[in-house]
Amino acid sequence: VARTPLIAGNWKMNLDHLQAVAFVQKLHWTLKDAAHEDGSVEVAVFPPFTDIRTVQTLIDADKISFALGAQDISSHDSGAYTGEISGAFLSKLSCGYVIIGHSERREYHAESDEVVAAKVQAALRHGVVPVICVGETAEDLEKFGASAVPAGQLEVALSGVAADAEIVVAYEPVWAIGSGQAATPQQAQDVCAKLREVIASKMGADAAAKTRVLYGGSVKSANIASFMREPDVDGALVGGASLVADEFAAIIRFQK
Ligand code: G3H
Repeated sequence: VARTPLIAGNWKMNLDHLQAVAFVQKLHWTLKDAAHEDGSVEVAVFPPFTDIRTVQTLIDADKISFALGAQDISSHDSGAYTGEISGAFLSKLSCGYVIIGHSERREYHAESDEVVAAKVQAALRHGVVPVICVGETAEDLEKFGASAVPAGQLEVALSGVAADAEIVVAYEPVWAIGSGQAATPQQAQDVCAKLREVIASKMGADAAAKTRVLYGGSVKSANIASFMREPDVDGALVGGASLVADEFAAIIRFQK
């Protein structure tokens, strides 16, 4: 099964309204003649909630071929949940994707595997594709090796997910995030292959063959091609390097 590579830019809590406008315009013009225009690479940007409407308007106005996503979602659909954003709101803003279970949410907002699973269900109820993040800390790596913790997190996140549901999985070793110390391509491949086995056991072989599994953690233009050469790595979830238009464009233009 052909899996279209996905290059996803998670802005985290960066780029205010004006910076978002300038960034999207610059990225669009930088990529205008690039390979991604032929559909060989899917590009998605994940701005803060407050920038989503702005970015959506720019995408619509200029027929820009970026997909749009949010960085979090409520597990509830509506009601008295101050500060929360529902899947219904995201889908009305044309968000095709939502990041769920990023390690920063797990760490700073105490999101358990069960909360992550409930958020996955919320995204699917509203037709938003969950980008399910899993990954081990440096301590986990030392104690249990690389794949045990991410595989366990994914098992719980996929509870009750139908075989035909569209999902994306992102393997992000916590020790590689923002550290400048990416995993090696072989490490990424080994864990991504393991995660694909988890998808197969929970959702079936067809789902495993068509689900995109991304690597994230200190991805930049200088190392993207080495990850994309790995058979089970279908793209990247990029943080810091997704904030600089030239650099993010160079990542999107990776050559295998
Ligand atoms: O969601 C993105 C990741 O946390 C990776 O961040 O590229 O800055 O290491 P990074």
